[in-house]
Amino acid sequence: MIRKMQMSDVQRVAEIERLVQTHPWTSKQFEESVSSYQSTVIEYQSQVVGFCILQPVLDEANLLLMAIDPKMQGQGLGYKLLEYSIEQLKNNPVQIFLEVRESNLAAIALYEKSGFHQIDVRRNYYPKADGSKENAIIMVKSCSDDFAQLFKM
Ligand SMILES: CC(C)(COP(=O)(O)OP(=O)(O)OC[C@H]1O[C@@H](n2cnc3c(N)ncnc32)[C@H](O)[C@@H]1OP(=O)(O)O)[C@@H](O)C(=O)NCCC(=O)NCCS
Repeated sequence: MIRKMQMSDVQRVAEIERLVQTHPWTSKQFEESVSSYQSTVIEYQSQVVGFCILQPVLDEANLLLMAIDPKMQGQGLGYKLLEYSIEQLKNNPVQIFLEVRESNLAAIALYEKSGFHQIDVRRNYYPKADGSKENAIIMVKSCSDDFAQLFKM
């Protein structure tokens, strides 16, 4: 089941975040995202196993963060969650932007499967656990392509 994130999900969401990130968002940041952003969770057997946070801005959107519990990765849940979350955006964005660590090949492959492509690199953007820095890949999904596909059918 995929549904809107609620305050009661924050503890579990923050727990998943800590399992997958070296520099995790805090519970407070997740609390704020419940009211400020479009925040979605995915459940498996009644337990939250992943989340996705999108920020609509005018006629665009930013994908701020998403994760699937490591125990549940590789089963198509991340893809389903991302597609659903994008579909639910109420501002009908023309494009969606995101930034991702250059080394995060799983996420980059997921985003490419969902129609994002790489447009730029932000050098030395992310802190690494060893104190050094890592490049960010900037990706965009042009939502009007979806309409173009529809018209081709
Ligand atoms: C990135 C992430 C959300 C993917 O979720 P997931 O549920 O494991 O992904 P899915 O099973 O839906 O896979 C969808 C696609 O992603 C890609 N993918 C997923 N895991 C992959 C891996 N380990 N290696 C390469 N590609 C991978 C594939 O293209 C896959 O499509 P396919 O199954 O047709 O080959 C998950 O790995 C995760 O939570 N990672 C840690 C947090 C993170 O990096 N978040 C994103 C940055 S904020």
